[in-house]
Amino acid sequence: MSDIAANNASAPKHVAVIMDGNGRWARARGKKRHAGHRAGVNSVRATVELAAERGVSYLTLFAFSSENWQRPKEEVSSLMSLFIEALRREVGELHRNNVRLRFIGAREQLSERLMRRIAEAEQTTAKNTGLMLNVAVAYGGRWDIANAAQVLATRVVSGEIDAADINEEALAAEMQLGGTPDPDLLIRTGGEQRISNFLLWNLAYAELWFTDVLWPEFDKAEFDKALAYYAEKQRRFGHTGEQVEEAKC
Ligand code: FPP
Repeated sequence: MSDIAANNASAPKHVAVIMDGNGRWARARGKKRHAGHRAGVNSVRATVELAAERGVSYLTLFAFSSENWQRPKEEVSSLMSLFIEALRREVGELHRNNVRLRFIGAREQLSERLMRRIAEAEQTTAKNTGLMLNVAVAYGGRWDIANAAQVLATRVVSGEIDAADINEEALAAEMQLGGTPDPDLLIRTGGEQRISNFLLWNLAYAELWFTDVLWPEFDKAEFDKALAYYAEKQRRFGHTGEQVEEAKC
């Protein structure tokens, strides 16, 4: 199958998700924001399950952005505790379901304890061959690009490569999702229609799907709506619609 035909398969290979709306969900119920984040873990579980059931190969979730460090101290620390708890509770089941877990982001900014849990979870699931679940924590799209540029610049300085070797391919390989196909579909819950410094490089050709549903209420039925939207799209990558149709034959 040609690349363009493969990219027009009805199921997306890679789905990225901005999980927004936990705070509003909690506020509407007279609860603290943390209750919304806790409820959000259930939606993460349902989303991982459905992605695997529908044959998605890669799922990338935006759990904590570079900018989220600016939230009230109490919320940041309760989110960090929630990540540790979720890892402790969920890794066994993920492993049994053949899910491979990987974290992307500036992990050196995280606590020793969380970094250790992350490393253990990645190690435990490293050989799994099912869904690849990427969790973005302390992640920013601009940070990712700058970081990749710094890696390449260091290689130029050491004489390993020439400045002329820096091209899109070289940069892509050093991004956090280097080696992973770009997301085909971006889902954002919570009613806003923006990218919020998520995978700026990798989302270049993603189909964008937005819903007003708040993340704790995002369920399998809602996910299926996003997948149905995607299935209807013709993905041209700069080609003409006729070229895409021909490639499918
Ligand atoms: C955005 O909603 C959500 C977050 C910053 C945290 C997302 C974290 C989870 C869903 C917890 C579980 C994650 C994993 C991977 C175990 P918001 O708080 O900005 O919502 P608001 O816009 O309504 O205030």
